[in-house]
Amino acid sequence: MTSTDQQPFLSVRDLKVHFSTEDGIVKAVDGLSFDVLKGKTLGIVGESGSGKSVTNLAVLGLHDRDRTAIEGEILLDGKELLTASEKELEQLRGNKMSMIFQDALASLSPYHTVGKQIGETYRKHTGCSKQEARARSIEMLKRVGIPQAETRVDDYPHLFSGGMRQRAMIAMALVCDPELLIADEPTTALDVTVQAQIMDLLKDLQQEFGTAIIFITHDLGVIADIADDVLVMYGGRCVERGTKREVLRSPQHPYTLGLLSSMPSLDHPVDVPLNPIPGSPPSLLNPPTGCRFHPRCTFAEKVEGGLCATEQPPLQITNGRGSACHLTSAQRAEYFTDLAGSAAN
Ligand SMILES: Nc1ncnc2c1ncn2[C@@H]1O[C@H](COP(=O)(O)OP(=O)(O)OP(=O)(O)O)[C@@H](O)[C@H]1O
Ligand code: SF4
Ligand SMILES: [Mg+2]
Repeated sequence: MTSTDQQPFLSVRDLKVHFSTEDGIVKAVDGLSFDVLKGKTLGIVGESGSGKSVTNLAVLGLHDRDRTAIEGEILLDGKELLTASEKELEQLRGNKMSMIFQDALASLSPYHTVGKQIGETYRKHTGCSKQEARARSIEMLKRVGIPQAETRVDDYPHLFSGGMRQRAMIAMALVCDPELLIADEPTTALDVTVQAQIMDLLKDLQQEFGTAIIFITHDLGVIADIADDVLVMYGGRCVERGTKREVLRSPQHPYTLGLLSSMPSLDHPVDVPLNPIPGSPPSLLNPPTGCRFHPRCTFAEKVEGGLCATEQPPLQITNGRGSACHLTSAQRAEYFTDLAGSAAN
């Protein structure tokens, strides 16, 4: 999946993340491959429970290795992460890769000042003095647009507004100049104006530092704003991938089409109902046979021989563009044109 022909900075191949639970094995991620290019943003989209966070926690090496079976390959700048030691991973988190989450309050300790938390991350990786770390904290707070950074650096997180806390978390994530930033729904809890400011901030920082970003969201509107490439996940697998333009303008998979049809657009008349996807996401304990989307797919009956219920469609990829569906390209061209045209505007 490439916007250009660059080497990927992160390369994930056939990733499987399976959890042992009392009820059985939860196949949260089940054979996922994708690339992220230096300085580019990969948007990962999918409904709740599709495996977005589990995938990225695997990249960061944050799963409990005793309870989780992880297979496949995760190459970060050429280094295999699945066989890396805990110590190596800890070193890489911060220096090479970093993350921001939806809930800044949960990520920041209430017992230490914002400046101390940003500074400690920096000190841990650079071994610099406390004074240098404090100066770096102030510099980072300024860079993410916190006013009066010289005094706010000594505030505790609860004295910051939601948007400011999110900025502080971004400052902490970026303090060691990571080359990959994983942002897991970082703006979901914020109001629309602050959300837009944070998105602009991430774009500016990416321009400035050439950071690669994985941006996880439910929201295709956010994808349209920030992503270069898009990965659509369903039931722990990739169902479609391509550049943003390809995926949003000419979706190849009924699930992507469903997401687009359920998305409000600016010119969507208020009295015309949106078209949500019927049913709910699959259980990953006992996933549906065949195509995991088949119980909800309005096109399943168009495929001959009931194949959708019995055979898992492979992800067919050409030049980075791919989808996993039994419909032929002629069928897609016939059924999708009008729907996609109206949804992607
Ligand atoms: N530690 C765990 N043990 C067992 N199952 C888990 C564990 N962590 C996640 N899961 C399951 O794995 C599946 C994928 O979860 P994940 O958190 O990746 O979804 P998601 O796409 O990030 O959803 P959301 O949009 O709600 O954040 C879910 O069914 C979830 O219940
Ligand atoms: S393979 Fe069948 S069920 Fe799955 S998305 Fe395609 S048409 Fe729908
Ligand atoms: Mg999640």
